[in-house]
Amino acid sequence: QNRTRSLRIESPEVPEVTAQHEARPTLTTEAGAPLADNQNTETAGPGGPLLVQDQQLFEKLAHFNRERIPERIVHARGGGAYGTFTLTRDVSQWTRARFMSEVGKQTETFLRMSTVAGSLGSADAVRDPRGFALKFYTEEGNYDLVGNNTPVFFIKDASKFPDFIHTQKRDPYTGSQEADNVWDFWGLSPESTHQVTWLFGDRGIPASFRNMNGYSSHTYQWNNAQGEVFWVKYHFKTNQGIKNLTAEEAAVLAGTDPDSHQRDLREAIERGEFPSWTVQVQIMPAGDAATYRFNPFDLTKVWPHADYPPIEIGKLELNRNPDNVFAEVEQSIFSPAHFVPGIGPSPDKMLQGRLFAYADAHRYRVGVNADHLPVNSPHATESRTYGRDGALYDGRHNRAKNYEPNSFGGPAQTDQPLWSTTAVTGFTGNHAAPTHAEDNDFVQAGDLYRLMSQDEKDRLVTNLANGISGVSPDRDDIVDRAIGNFSHADADLGRRLELAVKELRG
Ligand code: HEM
Repeated sequence: QNRTRSLRIESPEVPEVTAQHEARPTLTTEAGAPLADNQNTETAGPGGPLLVQDQQLFEKLAHFNRERIPERIVHARGGGAYGTFTLTRDVSQWTRARFMSEVGKQTETFLRMSTVAGSLGSADAVRDPRGFALKFYTEEGNYDLVGNNTPVFFIKDASKFPDFIHTQKRDPYTGSQEADNVWDFWGLSPESTHQVTWLFGDRGIPASFRNMNGYSSHTYQWNNAQGEVFWVKYHFKTNQGIKNLTAEEAAVLAGTDPDSHQRDLREAIERGEFPSWTVQVQIMPAGDAATYRFNPFDLTKVWPHADYPPIEIGKLELNRNPDNVFAEVEQSIFSPAHFVPGIGPSPDKMLQGRLFAYADAHRYRVGVNADHLPVNSPHATESRTYGRDGALYDGRHNRAKNYEPNSFGGPAQTDQPLWSTTAVTGFTGNHAAPTHAEDNDFVQAGDLYRLMSQDEKDRLVTNLANGISGVSPDRDDIVDRAIGNFSHADADLGRRLELAVKELRG
């Protein structure tokens, strides 16, 4: 028996457009179609299940699921701001970089400051070096100086970096940072003694991003119009004064205000209190490098000011907050390989490893077109490459030819290297031997300790002892090796540390 059912289509009345609707812009889907209801999903009847046709819901949930990108493998936690670099001294005798060609010249910058070991959601007020990554938007392309708030580093060979960072991050079994791993690695890597002495001293926990210095740490090459080479280290001296937190103050602040550094920077700029840094350089003529007392490209050493006095060349000021933290801070990218004419790398083995690591991280973390996001693209010139396509390519080259050489007037090379050549000698190999008379892992750590006031020394010993005493009770070998490095740096430091650790470990 054929039974026909008549289908009655009930169509609810379309509500009238009210004044409230007119006052606000229309909410739409990602494709721009008006969205009727952003509070109630579409269901089969008032108590029924969801309908697949509610594509607005699925679009919303799916977009939300994809909001995060991989965090930086190090320096995940940071804040940033735009600013201005002003040149205050003629430096043309050392570099032909155009953004430093005239006294008074100003260049737009973006500075991101960060902690190193913590993940994206970690607290700011912790004992850790701070990153100091500075992008200069110059007329010859973006120049990135990716430094720290410490003039030295824990290691001096790029091959040790992943191992070092593994000890700073979470243990594969416990899922926590482990004192055993931290002190084991440092104890077995005596070149870390200088940086660890620095880190457990007063400057190890800055009160804010505004109250710390920045350093290139590495030595870089400057070259002038005549092609002469100079080795240079940069210093950014805070004009807000150095201020630090004690371990106790930091423990409270990290718990009560995990965003303390980021908030402080943003609010200071909102108040019009623009933080600034005086920029200095130490310059070494190229000819000095081979015969200097120690390897001038060793990242675990500072150049004593008596040997190469700092020369003031400019001022960095931060004066504009980013409008969107994800777009401009999380997606910002900095690479030690971003040079401009007149500036280049030194043979520092750590720096050379970094020249590879950053762009590789950017392609993984942000994507192959990361360089073309507004915060990363050149602001005072434009990029002109034959690189094309890839995820999220915006078609910026329009119809231009995508190969070179071409006879269609496409961009052409300059034949002018950015930096000068340097001579090399010897055989290839995994060289570890000292290259200079005074290459030594302990002297500068000891010098730093001996420079401290009695109070500073006391706090250093307490901080180190608290750290080292966290090592497992059955691993005295790790403790002894760690203390041994400090004894080599300074006998008094070693003796005091041994007593303090013994007291804490019983
Ligand atoms: C971030 C690698 C040593 C300062 C990073 C990132 C990587 C990396 C992969 C994440 C980049 C990103 O996802 O955007 C390395 C390697 C090193 C090394 C392989 C040694 C061979 C150093 C040293 C310094 C430094 C010696 C300072 C002098 C920084 C800073 C950041 C960073 C400031 C954060 C940049 C930002 O704000 O986006 N590093 N790093 N790194 N590194 Fe290193």
